Amino acid sequence: MTNQQHNGKEPEKFLSLNGKNVVLGVSGSIAAYKAADLASKLVQAGAQVDVILTESAQEFVGKSTFAALTHRPVTTGLWEANSPLAIDHVSLAVNADCVVVAPATANTIAKLALGLSDDALGATVLATDAPLVVAPAMDANMYASPAVQQNVETLRERGAVIAEPGKGRLASGLIGKGRLQDPAQIVGLVRQAIGRSGDYAGRKVVVSAGGTQEPIDPVRFISNRSTGKMGYALAEAARDRGADVTLVSAPTALDHPAGVGFVPVQTVNGMREAVLAASEPADLLVMAAAISDFSPANVASEKIKKNGASLTLELQKNEDWMPLATGPKLVKVAFAAETGDAAVKARDKVESKGAVFTVANDVSEEGSGFGTDTNRVAIVDASGEAEQLPLMDKLVVAHAILDRALKHLK
Ligand SMILES: Cc1cc2nc3c(=O)[nH]c(=O)nc-3n(C[C@H](O)[C@H](O)[C@H](O)COP(=O)(O)O)c2cc1C
Repeated sequence: MTNQQHNGKEPEKFLSLNGKNVVLGVSGSIAAYKAADLASKLVQAGAQVDVILTESAQEFVGKSTFAALTHRPVTTGLWEANSPLAIDHVSLAVNADCVVVAPATANTIAKLALGLSDDALGATVLATDAPLVVAPAMDANMYASPAVQQNVETLRERGAVIAEPGKGRLASGLIGKGRLQDPAQIVGLVRQAIGRSGDYAGRKVVVSAGGTQEPIDPVRFISNRSTGKMGYALAEAARDRGADVTLVSAPTALDHPAGVGFVPVQTVNGMREAVLAASEPADLLVMAAAISDFSPANVASEKIKKNGASLTLELQKNEDWMPLATGPKLVKVAFAAETGDAAVKARDKVESKGAVFTVANDVSEEGSGFGTDTNRVAIVDASGEAEQLPLMDKLVVAHAILDRALKHLK
C-alpha cells in the first residue's frame, strides 16, 4: 500500500475542469440516476457543479444525492427560499462556464427549443451565454419522432452540443437509439464545449496513437507495449483547446474520446493510409503512435501449426513514411520512444521526419512511457537543443507539447 492510499488521498492528477462552473440540469427520465455518476465525474474533474432538478426528475432521484456529491445546494424550483435563484433568478446562468442537461427528456428538449422559462432549468438555459450540452434520453420511438428530431435540430442550429444517445436496450424493453450517452463521454463534451474558443479554435489536428499490429497469420500478430494513453491525451487536450481533432488509432483498450473524429486502424499500412489522408488539410500532425519498425515478410493465410520444435519468422523493415505526410499548412511533431539517452537518439529524427521537434521519452524510466498515466519527456528541436520536462500527468505533457507546437503553426 502506498502512503497516498494509506492517507485516503488519490495520487495527484491533473484536473481538466479545475475552476470551471458547470450547471447540471436533470430532467424526468428513467436515466436520471446516471446523472449522479455524471455529477460525480464532473466534480472529480475539478468542476464546481450546481444541480437543477426538474419537478419530474425528483420522482426519480433525490436532492440529497446531488448535494452530497457536489457539496453544493441543489435547486429544485424558481421559488425555493434557500436557492441561489431566490435572490437572483439568473445567478447560476451568469456564472456558468457550461450548462449541461443530462438526461434531457423529450419534454425538456421541447421547452428549451421553444424558450420556455417556467422552471429553474428553462430560465437558466435562456439566461446564459455559456455553451449548452444536451444529452437526450428516451424511448427509441420518442427520440425518432419528427417533433423531437426537429427540436433537437433547433437546439443544434443554435449552437448546442448534442450528446447523441446510444443504441441499446431501453427501459421500455425496446432495443433502439435512446440510451443516455455514457457520463464519461458527456464530461468530454463539456470539456470540448468550454474550450471551443481556445487557442486551437479553427485548427485541424491529427494525432496517431496506439501500437500497430502486424499479422503473422489470421490469429497472431506482432505488436508493442504502447497503450495509446499519450496519443489519446493529446487528442483530448487539442479538443479542449478548440481544435477539430482526428485521432487515428491502432487497437487500444481505451474509450474513444468524445468530440473527436476517430479512425480505427490495425497495421502500419492502415495507419499510413489514414494519417496521410487526414494530414493533407491539417495544421498539425502529432505522431504519438508506436509504429512497428518490422513486419513479417510473409503473412500465412492459415493459422501456422505448432508442428516444429521452433519457428523462424522473417521480418522486413517498414519504410518510415512520416516524411511523406504533407499539406499546405502541415506542421509535424514526432515522438521517439527510446531506452536510455532518449534525447540524444531523438535528435536525428527531427530532420529525417520533417518535424519541428521530436518528443523524446525514455520508456525504461519509472513512471514514464508505456501504460503509465505520467510521462517524462524532452522536447528536442532541429538544432539538437533538448528541453527536459519534469515527470507529469500525460494530459499536462500533452498541453506542453501543444503550447510548443502552436508557435510553429502557419
Ligand atoms: C417511469 C417513467 C419514465 C420516464 N422516462 C422518460 C424518459 O426516459 N425520457 C423522456 O423523455 N420522458 C420520460 N418520461 C416522461 C417524463 O417524465 C415526462 O414527460 C415529464 O413531464 C418530464 O418532465 P421534465 O422534462 O420537466 O423533467 C418518463 C415517465 C415515467 C413515468
